[in-house]
Amino acid sequence: MIRDMARDFTEKHIKPVAAKLDEEKQFPYENLKKMAQLGLMGMNIPSQYGGSEAGVVAQSLAITEIAKGCASHAVTTSVTNMVAEVISIFGKEEIRKKHVPRICSGEYPAGAFALTEPHTGSDAANIRMTATRDQDGYVLNGTKTLITSGEAAGVTVTWAVTDKNAKKGKGITCFVIEKGTPGLIVGKAEDKMGHRASFTNELIFDNCFVPASSVMGAVEEGFKIAMVELDGGRIGIGSLAVGVGLAAIEFATKYVMEREAFGQPLSNFQAIQWMIADSYTALEAAQLLVLRAAHLKETNQPFTKEASMAKLYAGESARDAAVRAVQMLGGYGYTKDYPVERYLRDIIGTTLYEGTSEVQRIVVAREIMKRL
Ligand code: CAA
Repeated sequence: MIRDMARDFTEKHIKPVAAKLDEEKQFPYENLKKMAQLGLMGMNIPSQYGGSEAGVVAQSLAITEIAKGCASHAVTTSVTNMVAEVISIFGKEEIRKKHVPRICSGEYPAGAFALTEPHTGSDAANIRMTATRDQDGYVLNGTKTLITSGEAAGVTVTWAVTDKNAKKGKGITCFVIEKGTPGLIVGKAEDKMGHRASFTNELIFDNCFVPASSVMGAVEEGFKIAMVELDGGRIGIGSLAVGVGLAAIEFATKYVMEREAFGQPLSNFQAIQWMIADSYTALEAAQLLVLRAAHLKETNQPFTKEASMAKLYAGESARDAAVRAVQMLGGYGYTKDYPVERYLRDIIGTTLYEGTSEVQRIVVAREIMKRL
């Protein structure tokens, strides 16, 4: 039911505007609000905090449907759900009560997850932003970069070093910070290749004071919070990639069934049929990997390896499918008259954010070797 509802919403409200939003780099405030009202912004959140308690599998299915219409809507939805979840698990009760219902209801257009810094992305434990103890709280100083929804987020979770002398990864604390807090400055918005209807910002923390209640989980245990939440986030991005890949190959398949060359439809040629078969086979396998990871998470079983496998395989399979889709349309695939060039631009992002494909391979290999 939830998948069908997300599909229906995508057909009616997202697909018709996706190309224009991409072209004009417009953030879909209105649609995101409506999606929150449908329960799509707190899908794995208890109802006492305004969530829809639909679970991780339903969330994955919904994100795939949304991504078939627009990757920007889907990434904003995925990250916002992740932020609602991290606050609902690790936030103090007053913080949960304040922010999570506002995310779920759409009062906040989005949530942001601010980990990456200009000098370090993949090596997340190497962040330099500092949080210095000050009376009843902390003063944050540093810069975060490439932050999804940075300027739209009503609330942001972020990470800073609280103990410079601790071993790598040990002295990091996670904080929650509200939009409009003095010293939190929204920097430049990136002009991206894809996901152009989503914001990707720099965030500058300039002597930014946060009360002690803003600490998420325990002091100096922030790195693990980031890792745990990214495991879940990767299921969201894998789900998104499957949606974009399926949209690309479905469009191209319909096209080749109509387009004729050498006196017959292109779909009669085996070279084309193989592109269709290879793309659907990989994408359906990718979706099973994604759903397996979602099921493991939903049933409280370990899922680190499975989430990374799912994101890795889904991102790369969908990228291959989008490349083939452009090829199947020939020169037209290279124009903005057809959506496949947008799918290709969008899909590249999924092999980069929330851990590059290379990082996923590291995670998978380490998890396998740990168990041998
Ligand atoms: N769950 C729980 N704990 C974990 C964990 C996980 N998945 N992964 C690591 N840890 C723990 C380890 O057990 C270890 O703890 P102990 O020392 O107590 O044993 C600690 O964290 C350090 O782990 P590692 O030694 O494995 O750390 P590392 O420095 O080698 O890094 C990494 C590992 C996998 C490369 C990690 O840095 C990583 O995931 N990098 C990618 C970061 C990333 O995905 N960034 C995206 C940011 S968000 C985004 O894209 C945009 C957005 O807006 C959402």
